[in-house]
Amino acid sequence: MKRDIEIYVSEEEIKNRVQQLGEQISKDYGDQEVTIIAVLTGSFIFCADLLRHITCPVKIEFIMASSKDGRKSTGTVDIKLDLKRDISDHHVILIEDVVDTGLTVTHLLDMVKKKNPKSLKLCAFLYKPAQMKHKVDVDYLGFEVEDKFLVGYGLDYNGLYRELPYIGVYDEK
Ligand code: IMP
Ligand code: MG
Repeated sequence: MKRDIEIYVSEEEIKNRVQQLGEQISKDYGDQEVTIIAVLTGSFIFCADLLRHITCPVKIEFIMASSKDGRKSTGTVDIKLDLKRDISDHHVILIEDVVDTGLTVTHLLDMVKKKNPKSLKLCAFLYKPAQMKHKVDVDYLGFEVEDKFLVGYGLDYNGLYRELPYIGVYDEK
């Protein structure tokens, strides 16, 4: 049986917020084509839901980065999968699951910037201000959260709990 995970952001709250974000993006870009870059693995569920609320022409690309070993930050960002297509002159939105210290996303934004997009924005599902070490501006934010280790809606603990439809607090006990 699956262990109990305390609900931190409910399925209903997530649904509403993701719809609002999609509507905001649709309004901001209008008829312009947007290239979404989803950071795997954590953002895959958020990204799939968000895309279905975006009405502008949209393309999707994936990158995979890793900066953690279990709960611990390794202090470096490993790129496990790079972009497959040219994004120069595209309006790009990078989609991340959670901005914690800001290390991963700062590294990825720099990397994407070097590929000369027409514009580049950041959309993060969660943001934890308490851990911030590398200051980043989140253009589209789902929820600001406390300094807790969270799982569900794409977020994992050692690969588990991504399938939970809500965000829960992972308690090691
Ligand atoms: P940062 O580089 O410290 O900002 O860490 C960001 C990455 O760590 C995210 O992309 C997540 O994959 C992971 N991460 C940070 N906080 C959590 C959490 O509460 N639950 C699951 N993964 C997390
Ligand atoms: Mg991540």
